[in-house]
Amino acid sequence: MEVIREPAAMRSWSRRHRMAGRSIALVPTMGFLHEGHLSLISQARSCADITVVSIYVNPGQFSPSEDLSTYPSDVPGDLLKLSHTAIVDAVFCPPNLYDYQQRNNHAAEPSSGTTTKANDGRAAMISCIEEASSVEDDDDGSGHETWIRVEKLEQGLCGKSRPVFFRGVATVVAKLFHIVEPDVAIFGKKDYQQWRIICRMVRDLDFAVKIIGSEIIREPDGLALSSRNVRLSPEEREKALSINRSLLRAKDAAQSGQINCEELKSSVVQMITEAGGRIDYAEIVDQESLKPMEKIKSPVVICVAAWFGNVRLIDNMEVVL
Ligand code: PAJ
Repeated sequence: MEVIREPAAMRSWSRRHRMAGRSIALVPTMGFLHEGHLSLISQARSCADITVVSIYVNPGQFSPSEDLSTYPSDVPGDLLKLSHTAIVDAVFCPPNLYDYQQRNNHAAEPSSGTTTKANDGRAAMISCIEEASSVEDDDDGSGHETWIRVEKLEQGLCGKSRPVFFRGVATVVAKLFHIVEPDVAIFGKKDYQQWRIICRMVRDLDFAVKIIGSEIIREPDGLALSSRNVRLSPEEREKALSINRSLLRAKDAAQSGQINCEELKSSVVQMITEAGGRIDYAEIVDQESLKPMEKIKSPVVICVAAWFGNVRLIDNMEVVL
């Protein structure tokens, strides 16, 4: 397994393999890897000859008020996990994908030791990304001023409370696609809106990459795996089980004939609120357009975001009648 830090080195590595006739699958991640990430990696293995995993905590998708500086990170631990899987050919973990001046000066060493603080070059970028989020012309000194927006799909759900999130995701994923040049890329349906946005970006901008959506991996008690789960106290974690339970109950009700989305949403909200969660949103949307539905007709997905303490969790469940 090769660990590659510089974009130019990553691109040459990929091109060498493509010249040799091998297809490449990419799994983009922000690290602190869990079984959810590993399931995407197994799927990648079955889709292409070569598997590349990227690890990059992308400052561009966090707003100033969000948890970039506390986003969990353990690059050495991640590399160990990935080497144990024995199915990853390369890990791309760039120190910096935005600041073009710093890029060449950055030390190429990974951070050492487990940490819950940003320690991989993020801190240096926070201030310029903060400015980029708040000014119109994005002239923030990072040398970066181009953002991709998938205008309609990014509006609802997480886009409402995280206004810069999806432009940051789409932009960094586009950068990763240009650097790694994969044939296939795997995304989790856990981040349903993100997956749909990437599919749409790829279609609209003619990227030559096939996007695969992979099923949500859950703990045995139903909690969807997430890097943020480590920040839940045991009590908060217990309360957070209400998310999956409420989704299962709503899915059951829908399949037994309750197709009124307002009714279904209120049962989800009620269950999570009674457990002590604070709802950001609960929506029932069309699986493709992500438009809110009044009655379930087409295949829908019930999407939830809720706070437990200061941890925001998202989850969803597809429903086809
Ligand atoms: P991250 O949160 O690390 O997630 C990386 C990938 O793992 C995403 O495609 C996400 O949907 C998937 N994933 C996370 N938890 C999962 C679970 N329980 N089951 C299945 N898949 C799961 O999502 C991001 O990083 C970033 O936004 C990124 C796409 C890398 C761009 O920065």
